[in-house]
Amino acid sequence: MPLNYYLCSQNTQKIMYRTKTCGELRIENLNEKVVLAGWVQKSRKFGGMLFVDLRDRYGITQLVFNREINAALQDSAEQLGREWVIQVQGVVTERENKNPNLATGDVEIIVSELQVLNPAETPPFTIEDESDGGDDIRMKYRYLDLRRNPVKRNLELRHQMAFAVRQYLNERHFLEVETPVLVSSTPEGARDFVVPSRLHQGHFYALPQSPQLFKQLLMVSGFDRYFQIVKCFRDEDLRADRQPEFTQIDCEMSFIEQEDVLHLFEGLIKYLFKTIKNIDIPALPRMPYSDAMRLYGSDKPDTRFGMTFVELKDLTQGKGFGVFDNAEYVGAICVKGCAGYTRKQLDELTEFVRRPQIGAAGLIYLRYEQDGALKSSVDKFYSQDDLQKWADRAEMKSGDLLLVLCGSTEKTQKQLGELRLEMGARLGLRDKNRFSCLWVVDFPLLEYDEEAGRFFAKHHPFTSPKPEDIPLLDSRPADVRANAYDMVINGVEVGGGSIRIHNSDLQKKMFTTLGFTAEQAQAQFGFLMNAFKYGAPPHGGIAFGLDRLVSLFAGLDSIRDCIAFPKNNAGKDVMIDAPSPISKEQMDELHLAFSAEQQNQ
Ligand code: AMO
Repeated sequence: MPLNYYLCSQNTQKIMYRTKTCGELRIENLNEKVVLAGWVQKSRKFGGMLFVDLRDRYGITQLVFNREINAALQDSAEQLGREWVIQVQGVVTERENKNPNLATGDVEIIVSELQVLNPAETPPFTIEDESDGGDDIRMKYRYLDLRRNPVKRNLELRHQMAFAVRQYLNERHFLEVETPVLVSSTPEGARDFVVPSRLHQGHFYALPQSPQLFKQLLMVSGFDRYFQIVKCFRDEDLRADRQPEFTQIDCEMSFIEQEDVLHLFEGLIKYLFKTIKNIDIPALPRMPYSDAMRLYGSDKPDTRFGMTFVELKDLTQGKGFGVFDNAEYVGAICVKGCAGYTRKQLDELTEFVRRPQIGAAGLIYLRYEQDGALKSSVDKFYSQDDLQKWADRAEMKSGDLLLVLCGSTEKTQKQLGELRLEMGARLGLRDKNRFSCLWVVDFPLLEYDEEAGRFFAKHHPFTSPKPEDIPLLDSRPADVRANAYDMVINGVEVGGGSIRIHNSDLQKKMFTTLGFTAEQAQAQFGFLMNAFKYGAPPHGGIAFGLDRLVSLFAGLDSIRDCIAFPKNNAGKDVMIDAPSPISKEQMDELHLAFSAEQQNQ
């Protein structure tokens, strides 16, 4: 229904603010008398004429004031400043100089009446597609930043995607159920945000990291298809794809197996790509976690390009090069067409892998030169024959460059994974307009934490082991695989889930493996284990990160840009100044101690 319908269908006796939006007038509307309202984007004088770009959510329309027709009106219009809110009445006329870049560019409004609805101070940055404002200032005045097209478009896309998700799930009988935001703190997972209780001294609520437990309880209640587009909170270090509060498309189903979940949610992603971007996504490949680590050094491989790992350990041994001899793992990537990399470029790559975030000790290279010669940084240890074996294994052709890292297996694979992504980016292989989706499956159930000296659940403690691996829980817990899966698009984990444990004995066993005493398990998760005693159906689910999906669809570098009011890199909202100190009275009421430093302020 066009906006106009709603505007005109209201009480027609009342003067309407606008009869059209700033985005809808076309040549077909010639000679119509219209009323528009919006913000002054900019004005320019040209002889006796004044042109004003009027902007609203829907677009920009050019207004014309003509001194020869109405000098007083022209005088008022000349007072208009940027971002003033005005209402005009006028007639739609064909433009002499048409603007093909504007949807309304064929027409302009010859204004006969002007009313200033609200003057405005000059904004601290230009409200244009390319703004002159830096990040900080735009975040401080986010409500102005949101007037800019690129930011506004991201929110529109977000709405469309959330709407399409609801449509898809509703058609498949999913019920949207709200779950509480004030919950209790649980020890597993990320750090919780906590909220002190006024009524219960020394007690705290926690904000949910996800509605995981509630959605499982809803399955016990018989709501066999649940979803919720829901805010989640995690007190983690921030990254481009992480915010302390973010939105999940959270889903759970009963009487299903892993295959049902993968099928239904592969359908959801295909539906989103088709309805939003008109892209047909082929069936999603499934990659076991072990292959993802072995070939890409990551559980979220960017499969838009190849450059998969080649293992060289056996070919590098016993030739007197101690660094390789002593390494648990020697692995390489073959970079097509880069044999001509200069010393400087190779030094840059060495610096890259040595950065503390990556942590490699060094980088070894092998060039397959155009004339067929093989040149490496370890020539003195390896003969041409030796190097030829490396080249053959890596399927190098003349002109290719082999980059080799070594060390402990897991660490080196991760480092090589980072180097692969860097080379992919340098060679333009990570095109934002191409989408490569896959499922990563068969995750390990548990992960050993050296510092804590115990196993942690890789996904969460309610994830079910693969039935055939259950006997290994006592003897080789690290080898137990889970019925867990992640959806990965272009190297981003967009969603993850699992089939849950629905048997309280197995759940108890899981807690024991995680090092919980029976009392601790009862205290933390007793309500879930009790619920399972009353008829828990087999169930499982998944949660997608809505922010990550939207930013992928929009080709953004950070999820921040598709969130209306995001936190900055330091986890702060600089517009509303959050987090901020609270008064002594509030602290007292919440039974929180006031630090000496605060008392002195
Ligand atoms: P998980 O922890 O994998 O699973 O989260 C699901 C998805 O949420 C998104 N996500 C985030 N997005 C932005 N900022 C963050 N800090 C952030 N953290 C996670 C990711 C991720 O894939 N309850 C389980 C799901 C289940 O088992 O059904 C869960 O929360 O896209």
